[in-house]
Amino acid sequence: MSHENEDPKLKHLFDGSDWNVYETKVLNLGVGAPGTDLLEPCCDIFQQATAHRLKYEKSENRSLLFQYGPTSGCFDVRHEIAKYFSSMYDSAMKSEDLIITTGASQGLHFSLSTLVDFNGYIFVDEYTYMIALDSMKEFTTLTIVPVKLNDDGVDLKDLEAKVRERCFKPNGKEFWAMYYTIPTYHNPTGILFSPAVCRGIVALARKFNFVVICDDVYNILSYDEKPPHVRLLSYDARTDTDFAGHVISNGSFSKILGPGVRLGWLEVPPRLKPILERSGIINSGGCFNNYTAGIIGSLFELGLAQSHISRLYEAYKERMKAVIAVLNEQLPESCTLIVPKGGYFIWISLPEHLNARDFLTYSLEHEKIFFIPGPRFALEGDNGKHCFRLSIAFHKKDKLVDGITRLCRALKDYIKTLS
Ligand SMILES: Cc1ncc(COP(=O)(O)O)c(C=O)c1O
Repeated sequence: MSHENEDPKLKHLFDGSDWNVYETKVLNLGVGAPGTDLLEPCCDIFQQATAHRLKYEKSENRSLLFQYGPTSGCFDVRHEIAKYFSSMYDSAMKSEDLIITTGASQGLHFSLSTLVDFNGYIFVDEYTYMIALDSMKEFTTLTIVPVKLNDDGVDLKDLEAKVRERCFKPNGKEFWAMYYTIPTYHNPTGILFSPAVCRGIVALARKFNFVVICDDVYNILSYDEKPPHVRLLSYDARTDTDFAGHVISNGSFSKILGPGVRLGWLEVPPRLKPILERSGIINSGGCFNNYTAGIIGSLFELGLAQSHISRLYEAYKERMKAVIAVLNEQLPESCTLIVPKGGYFIWISLPEHLNARDFLTYSLEHEKIFFIPGPRFALEGDNGKHCFRLSIAFHKKDKLVDGITRLCRALKDYIKTLS
């Protein structure tokens, strides 16, 4: 073992790996991140927002942005975020319900470590965001339990049976379990949980007292004509007689401004906010990302965030529609796809006897196309082996159309060679 750290001097997360989405020899259709053209305006708009915020700090705010921030983040920033999302969502977002984070990855880790008994459980959809699974596995005393997923969301019967069997009284923490999900434009399947499923999840959470955390990172990327932007949290209505507060919305600017910004928020019910704010990690450092939050506050105040988000939204929508059109026309009949109404991802199922990992090898060899085989999104072994995920986020429309056409060609040939 070397006694020195070796530094490969990478420039981005996918640099130097099979995943390198900037690599021109392979077309990577797997990555869930905005592409170069979408991030390009960030330099200019962040420059303007930074100048605006720093001028305010110097002339009016005694440079307090550089002090340890209030635990949940400066009120003016939370106000800007709440104002914007209230205008997007079907129900209002309140500034006082927000806690600033460094993104949804951290929001999940923070909620899990603070709210859930370490001898407890995390219920997850049978296919779920793969890196959330990785981060859950680090809590080695927690047990992760996959739950069946249908086309309209989690299977409520399966969730209830698994929860009922394991339920216990938490010791020193608020909850004995968490249900982690992505109800709106799910990663990896692209599905949107139906209102009935959302209501059912809330009813179960109330009955068995577990916390539901929703990664709400794609919610405002609805590509239907009149998009009803929703989040599951609104089903945990405060006007209900049995309301206690069981749902957290875990938001992020990664997909709508840029992932390198590392800013997000937790939207939490009143009983959970003081518990989260008492935690050592947030008190030791103050607001998780105070400086960047201040810049984002100005980005909204100046209207720059809104126009950037609109730009990304239009590009994603165009890309999704173009990709779906090619798939509808060229995907072999024996394969199925769930047409997403929003978000980044398309989930394709091959005939059950086929293996998406083997097809990936074939696709790389014959068409130089990369995607992510289903088992990466499952807790156990070979689950989802005949499925794979595509993402529309990174490449421009023309490149995507070409890539999807080649992918379909490879798939037809692959199926033919096996029959
Ligand atoms: C469901 C889901 N949650 C979280 C993340 C990461 O979010 P962030 O960059 O805000 O940590 C992603 C990114 O792919 C995601 O798809």
